[in-house]
Amino acid sequence: MIPRLSRRNFGKLAAGASLATVATGYSSGTTPPQAQANAATPAATLAAQTTAREFPQGFLWGTATSSYQIEGAWNEDGKGESIWDRYAHTPGTMRNNDTGDVANDHYHRYKEDVALMKRDLGATAYRFSISWPRIFPHGTGQPNAKGLDFYSRLVDELRANGIEPFATLYHWDLPQALQDQGGWQSRDIPKAFADYAGYVAEKLSDRIHHFFTINEFRSFTEAGYRRFDIPAPGGSRTVFLAPGLRLPAAEFHQVRHHAVLAHGLAVQAMRAQGKPGIKIGPAENIETAVPLIEAPEHIKAAQTATREMNAPFLTVMLEGRYTEAYLKETGKDAPNFTDEDLKIISSPLDFVGINVYLPRFYVLASDEAPGWHEVPYAKGHAKAPISNFPIGPEALYWAPKHVQSLWGAKAIFITENGCAGEDVLAEDGKVYDTDRIMFVRAYLTQLQRATADGVPVKGYFYWSTMDNLEWTAGFGNRYGIVYVDFTTQKRTPKMSASFFREVAKRNAVA
Ligand code: BGC
Repeated sequence: MIPRLSRRNFGKLAAGASLATVATGYSSGTTPPQAQANAATPAATLAAQTTAREFPQGFLWGTATSSYQIEGAWNEDGKGESIWDRYAHTPGTMRNNDTGDVANDHYHRYKEDVALMKRDLGATAYRFSISWPRIFPHGTGQPNAKGLDFYSRLVDELRANGIEPFATLYHWDLPQALQDQGGWQSRDIPKAFADYAGYVAEKLSDRIHHFFTINEFRSFTEAGYRRFDIPAPGGSRTVFLAPGLRLPAAEFHQVRHHAVLAHGLAVQAMRAQGKPGIKIGPAENIETAVPLIEAPEHIKAAQTATREMNAPFLTVMLEGRYTEAYLKETGKDAPNFTDEDLKIISSPLDFVGINVYLPRFYVLASDEAPGWHEVPYAKGHAKAPISNFPIGPEALYWAPKHVQSLWGAKAIFITENGCAGEDVLAEDGKVYDTDRIMFVRAYLTQLQRATADGVPVKGYFYWSTMDNLEWTAGFGNRYGIVYVDFTTQKRTPKMSASFFREVAKRNAVA
């Protein structure tokens, strides 16, 4: 009989040494001759016998976070109020009334966090976001030197530890002052965003060479200004984000348009004010159609569907036009725009950043327009723990592949990928998140397949560096590869951190 592997005895295993003994059920006194031969095989030889799926040389291994989700210090050093401060302080909006007031206290603990990224994660890159109201407390006008200084110190610390900084300029924490002036419904916001982005580039692009303009255009516009339904096996789930508005269609489509316009204006401002050679791109949660069967007609159908599903965001940014189908579908509620807007929106980019958690849907080719047929998730389709979104590792093959084949991208970053778990500290003080390791390994195997095909993916960022405030879901949804006790702020790397470290070290997944 195979002995049960209790947490207690697992905790005592020396890495690799006695696993074979446990798995075969023989104690050392009863090991049969053949097993002895296996046990005698040096660990290095065993590892060499495992096919390592290597990533291209120079591939970057990072993790990601965002300002509101980890920084805390919500009203310190001259920071202005953001729409998330306002929203979270409104009773009934957040699970358990959690807020980002303190969150991971990263504002004060950033040195410890950078040390951990280097030591425990072996990360070579880090994606964080800059809080707009820390830099411009009122959104525009007088900048706040202390706010800028925080990011300057963070960047120095990262560089001193050999970690390449990647900064996102907007991860949803709009200054409340700008919301009060009409928020993303107003055409003034794109201009204000560009001024802020240009200022940051001017001040920090000597040390930050990669910038993402906006994180997840789709999520913050849909969940903040209409409603956002994420597909899930057996139904879908609705996500809400600040400022929690439910706009009529025409106004909502205008918000989407302002978001991509802000991106384009920011690209131009940053190129004008930043150091020559800075690299800029978006970080969008691409809607990915995955061919259910990899036959040419279904692959084509998936590609066509992906282009259409991303019409208001990536497609217009990368093609400089709204698709006919999008304009037809939105009809009288289509956004108002000019040809000049489209030119700005499609300002040349250096890379495309994509957040990939799940396939939007599987497709099969269809003889009828629009040429594809969406296949609903089977009720029993595998789901990610807690968040319940469907698991589909193939999305991490097809998403970058579509970005390359549709838009000829020369560089792609996976700016987010990961899953939440019901992580617990075991008796030995460790977190055995087998579910997360399974998830990441499966997705990375598909990503490696893409790079082996020549898809120009340059780096991968796991979401998230550490457990943090999962927006309205509060602190319960743990996405980190580092466990955080939010009472003591103690950080404990999970087993997935060891897994990530090994992958980064070998530049390979196996
Ligand atoms: C967002 C993150 C979020 C993560 C997990 C992404 O949509 O960019 O802020 O925490 O997914 O839900």
